[in-house]
Amino acid sequence: MSWLALNGRVIIVTGGSSGIGQSIVENLLVNEAIVINFDLKENSAIQDENYFFYPTDVSNKKQVDQQVNQVFDKFRRIDGLVNNAGIALPGMLVNPDGSGKHQLTEEMFDRSIDVNQKSVFLMSQAVASKMIKNKSGVIINMSTESAHEGSIGQGFYVGTKGAINSMTVTWSKELGKHNIRVLAVAPGIMEETALRSAAYEETLAFVRGTTVEKLRQNYQKATSIPLGRAGKLSEVAEVVSFYLSDHASYVSGIITNIAGGKSRG
Ligand SMILES: NC(=O)c1ccc[n+]([C@@H]2O[C@H](COP(=O)([O-])OP(=O)(O)OC[C@H]3O[C@@H](n4cnc5c(N)ncnc54)[C@H](O)[C@@H]3O)[C@@H](O)[C@H]2O)c1
Repeated sequence: MSWLALNGRVIIVTGGSSGIGQSIVENLLVNEAIVINFDLKENSAIQDENYFFYPTDVSNKKQVDQQVNQVFDKFRRIDGLVNNAGIALPGMLVNPDGSGKHQLTEEMFDRSIDVNQKSVFLMSQAVASKMIKNKSGVIINMSTESAHEGSIGQGFYVGTKGAINSMTVTWSKELGKHNIRVLAVAPGIMEETALRSAAYEETLAFVRGTTVEKLRQNYQKATSIPLGRAGKLSEVAEVVSFYLSDHASYVSGIITNIAGGKSRG
C-alpha cells in the first residue's frame, strides 16, 4: 500500500490523454488506483492493467450519462472524479482596427461554455449521483490561477474557470452531508502542453501587442512567478492525488493555486 493509499480506488479523469490530465492519470496509476480516462482521443502510450479508456465527449450529456453508467456497472463504485478536460480559445472583446480579426465570437463562447463549464456540470451530476449511494467521494475541478485576476486575451477561458470556481464551492456545500468533497486546483504558468497551439499563441501575441517569440520568452523568463520558473505537470498531479486521498479528508470547498506563488494573471 502506497502512502496515499489510493490502491484500488476507482477514479475517472476527463481529458486524460494529454498534458496535465495525462500526468494525473500516470500519477494515479503509480499509486495503484484504477483509472478511467474520458477523452475524445486515446493515448496509446498509457499502458497499465489498471487503466481504462472510455471515449467520451464530456460536453455531451447522452455520452456522459452512458459512460458513467458503464463505469459504475463494471466497478460498482466511483471514488473520485477529476474534471480536467478543457480548451482555451483566445481573443479580444473588440479589435480597435475594425477588422474583427482575433475577436471573440458567439461560436467561441458557446464552445468554451460547453467544453469547460457544461462538462463539469454533466460529469459532476452523473458521478455524484453514484457517489451518494456509497456515501463517499471526491470531485476535483481543473481551474486556472488566471481566473482570479483576469488574463488579457482570455476572456472566455477565464470566465468559464471563474464559473467552475463558484460551482465548486457551492457543490461542496451541497454534497458535504453525503461525505463528498468538492475542490478545485488552479495551475498557473506550466510547461508546454497541447493547449498552447500555434493559433493560440498567434492570437494571444496579437491581443497583447507583442510577438509570439516575445510571448514565449516571457513564459521562460517567468518574471511574474516568485519561484522563478514554469510549473511541471507532475506538480499539479501530485496535489490532485493528495486531494483525492484520505490524507485530505477534511479539505473541501477551496480553490488551490498551483502557480509558484504567482497571483496576477
Ligand atoms: N496548460 C496550462 O498551462 C494550464 C494552466 C491552467 C489550467 N489548465 C487547465 O488544465 C486542463 C488541461 O489542460 P492541458 O494544458 O493539459 O491541455 P491539453 O490540450 O494538453 O489536454 C486537454 C485534453 O482534454 C481533451 N478534451 C478536450 N475537449 C474534450 C471533450 N469535449 N471531451 C473529452 N475530452 C476533451 C483533449 O482531447 C486533451 O486530451 C484544462 O482544463 C486547462 O484549462 C492548463
